[in-house]
Amino acid sequence: LITPVILSGGSGTRLWPLSTRDRPKQFLNLLGPLSMFQLTFQRCADDRIFRNPMIVGSSSHEEILQEQIREVGANPSAIILEPCARNTAPAIALAALAAENPSDLLLVMPSDHVIKNVSAFQKAVQESISIAQSRWLVTFGIEPTGPETGYGYIQQGDAIVGSSRSLSAQRFVEKPSLEKAEKMLKDGDYSWNAGIFLFRADTYLAAMEKNCPEMLDACKSAMAKGRTAGEIYYPDPDAFASAPSESIDYAIMERAEKIAVTPVSPGWSDVGSWDSLFDISDKDDDSNVIFGKAETIRSSNVLIHSHDLDVAVFGVENLIIVTHQNRVVILPRGQSQNVKDIAQKLAEKE
Ligand code: GDD
Ligand code: MG
Repeated sequence: LITPVILSGGSGTRLWPLSTRDRPKQFLNLLGPLSMFQLTFQRCADDRIFRNPMIVGSSSHEEILQEQIREVGANPSAIILEPCARNTAPAIALAALAAENPSDLLLVMPSDHVIKNVSAFQKAVQESISIAQSRWLVTFGIEPTGPETGYGYIQQGDAIVGSSRSLSAQRFVEKPSLEKAEKMLKDGDYSWNAGIFLFRADTYLAAMEKNCPEMLDACKSAMAKGRTAGEIYYPDPDAFASAPSESIDYAIMERAEKIAVTPVSPGWSDVGSWDSLFDISDKDDDSNVIFGKAETIRSSNVLIHSHDLDVAVFGVENLIIVTHQNRVVILPRGQSQNVKDIAQKLAEKE
């Protein structure tokens, strides 16, 4: 069986004004009754494949984490609450150190994604088990649709002997410049990194030992000096703070050997912005996407997200309109990446 590790410590602010530091995007129910964090549980609920999940998140989100876990009736085997954010490489290390056995298979999953075809995803995971057991660090490759600079890129190499669908990765490039992204797209043998990883706990820890030993030491000492209460872990704040802040992509994937990629098309989408939410949502007859209360007349290709206010638009197109409590944001479609800057500017003023 596989142990899911759900990462939920990110501070995603690109869906401002809905997402904030206290309530980052993974905890929002943007798409329906469940948040993306809660949807992640459903992805690994099959007890023929998965054990109860481990969760690694921020201690500042303890309340909302517990509440959302309760709401879906999930039963995590461990909840590790980081005293400060050190990005994903240390977060995953804490889970690997808390694993019951060094040979346990961990499926690391972000909690800010949508996967439409869960069975295609689970099949890809199952078909990657044997190579993960042979100490490969397995990534999942999505066919790229544009020169996105916010993703990791994996160059596909040769098929791995004994595996029906996984390839060895030639190269892993995290968040390239636009120029490099365009080049890789043209080369054609790259896929996007889905941000989901499968490996043995000891394979990951060995890769850390080799590529970032000081980070591993800090995480080991944070776990050794930390305290536990039932299934909740509180790593030691001073020890954990001394871990360098780096993502798994930079700290491990760009440097390690024996990286595999399993190609998969599970209707994956990183809900990173209002534009991507528009792209993946069902449209009405005029290609509008409405969440909440809105009236559209002679308007098309508009996204409205408004539960607090009634919004009416007339004769407009290609707009994003979001209201939340006393805030209203309006911007042209295609430019929602700029929301991060607005949020930052306003935060500085406050
Ligand atoms: N526990 C914990 N602690 N979780 C964290 C932390 C942390 O310090 N930082 C981020 N996370 C969580 C986020 O909540 C998210 O669910 C996941 O880890 C990934 O972090 P992001 O910050 O969203 O990463 P990214 O989107 O920039 O890049 C990653 O995902 C892309 C696909 O969406 C990379 O793996 C890319 O290579 C990949 O293409
Ligand atoms: Mg992300």
